[in-house]
Amino acid sequence: MRSPQVVRDPALPERVTIYEVGPRDGLQNEATVVPAEVKVEFIRRLLAAGLPVVEATSFVHPRWVPQLADAAEVMAALGEAGRPLPVLVPNERGLDRALELGLRHVAIFGSATETFARRNLNRSLDEQFAMFEPVVARAREAGLDVRAYVSMCFGDPWEGDVAVDQVVAVGKRLFDLGASQLSLGDTIGVGTAGHVTALLDAFNAAGLPDGVLAMHFHDTYGQALTNALAALRHGVTTFDASAGGLGGCPYAESATGNLATEDLVWMLHGLGIETGVSLPALVETSVWMAGRLGRPSPSRVVNAVGNAPADTSA
Ligand code: HMG
Ligand code: MG
Repeated sequence: MRSPQVVRDPALPERVTIYEVGPRDGLQNEATVVPAEVKVEFIRRLLAAGLPVVEATSFVHPRWVPQLADAAEVMAALGEAGRPLPVLVPNERGLDRALELGLRHVAIFGSATETFARRNLNRSLDEQFAMFEPVVARAREAGLDVRAYVSMCFGDPWEGDVAVDQVVAVGKRLFDLGASQLSLGDTIGVGTAGHVTALLDAFNAAGLPDGVLAMHFHDTYGQALTNALAALRHGVTTFDASAGGLGGCPYAESATGNLATEDLVWMLHGLGIETGVSLPALVETSVWMAGRLGRPSPSRVVNAVGNAPADTSA
């Protein structure tokens, strides 16, 4: 399989952490429910391809996201291998479900806007903090690592533009609950490179350095890879991505897939940046998953090197 010619840029970091969200962000948005055993196989393949972090599922209300109603079944089937994998938990009920399974890493997910907080969490912007506060406190007490997401950082389908100051105020409040990392979500993929730099500058000025920040780009407007490069040049070293470009958010209809992990890996490896990921194994996984879903992956790299077949037979 072809790989990119390496031309190192000494200004960029030597290593980047890819936080794989395909099994969660990708599959939460599928029209059909993917069987639990396929999810388990998908996660195992991603781990085998060298992805250092694979967000596995969500312990949200099963009526809100029926696609992930089998979260407990998937995590139980993964056994020991599943324990360190992060899962989304919106509230104490979700945390209880994760604790029952001995999981070690949870993620809360807040909104930078009032409308999305109500639509995604059934809470007002302010009420979301009251929901998350005991989740983080109890998770930390139990020795778990907590990641915080903030959504709609670059624009909101109902409210339009979102002020950088508002995103920083919400993000800092979520992080200060006790998270180790804050992932900045471009939920509907509208951000552009200068906006990324301005947002990161504002977070740095508010006391959150690039080292505790991750970027979570959806690719709706084709800006995800450019925006990742802008963040990389700024100093961010953790990037969320989804194998094959799966993804979206069921409560934000204009959201499409995440930045495809393969496209990110191609760029990073071309820049001589280590990820620990085997591109051939990853592409093979996305081609396999495309076969299970019955449609080709939207990833440019998967199509260039893997050419997903329309095989739904197995
Ligand atoms: P609610 O209806 O307000 O919940 O939903 P409630 O607290 O009023 O509880 C109602 C009932 O639900 C109770 O049962 C609870 O036990 C039960 P009853 O007493 O009536 O029998 N319940 C639960 N059951 C199982 N697991 C739970 C749970 N919680 C309550 N965790 C809630 C509030 C937050 C639960 C709901 O709005 C929800 O599940 N939302 C999740 C939406 C979601 O998953 N969205 C996608 C993920 S976010 C995303 O994709 C963005 C991201 O990728 C970043 C980006 O792109 O920007 C992260
Ligand atoms: Mg997302």
